[in-house]
Amino acid sequence: MKTAILYESWHHGNTKKLCEAIKKEQDITLLNVKEDDIALEEYDLIGIASGVAFGKFYKEIEQAVREKMPEGKKVFLIYTCGNPGPDFTKSIRKTLSSKNCDVLGVYRCKGYDTYGPFKLVGGLNKEHPTPEEIRGAVDFYNELIGKWS
Ligand SMILES: Cc1cc2nc3c(=O)[nH]c(=O)nc-3n(C[C@H](O)[C@H](O)[C@H](O)COP(=O)(O)O)c2cc1C
Repeated sequence: MKTAILYESWHHGNTKKLCEAIKKEQDITLLNVKEDDIALEEYDLIGIASGVAFGKFYKEIEQAVREKMPEGKKVFLIYTCGNPGPDFTKSIRKTLSSKNCDVLGVYRCKGYDTYGPFKLVGGLNKEHPTPEEIRGAVDFYNELIGKWS
């Protein structure tokens, strides 16, 4: 089974830490939405990983999924955010559903956030993602492929 994680993580690299921890343990391809060619057809399972801005996954990854996600793929979602209360996957799910992609699971955790007023107080969630949260992302992926394969 071939897996790729397409990610966007420009604020503090919070989401990238989760993706890299998965890559360290598993044979997956990481694709940076800003730097890499996005060719997803060859993958059986595709992760979409992003920080959150204004209640959604980042703009470029939302656009890449709209334009480049093939039909009918198995997908999982990973995100980091300032406040993990609300569900920030609604918009990306809508796009995925229009392409008949199946969302198999979601992992989210807090990420260091210095946007706007939080900068004045040294930022929010300074220690996040924590080693436990990073481990949690790896366990999430391992469990997902364990169930599916
Ligand atoms: C412009 C901007 C807008 C943000 N909007 C939200 C938001 O609506 N909700 C939230 O919980 N976090 C928000 N955040 C916090 C980021 O989602 C959080 O810091 C995330 O971990 C950044 O991920 P990254 O380092 O992988 O880019 C925002 C951050 C920025 C820079």
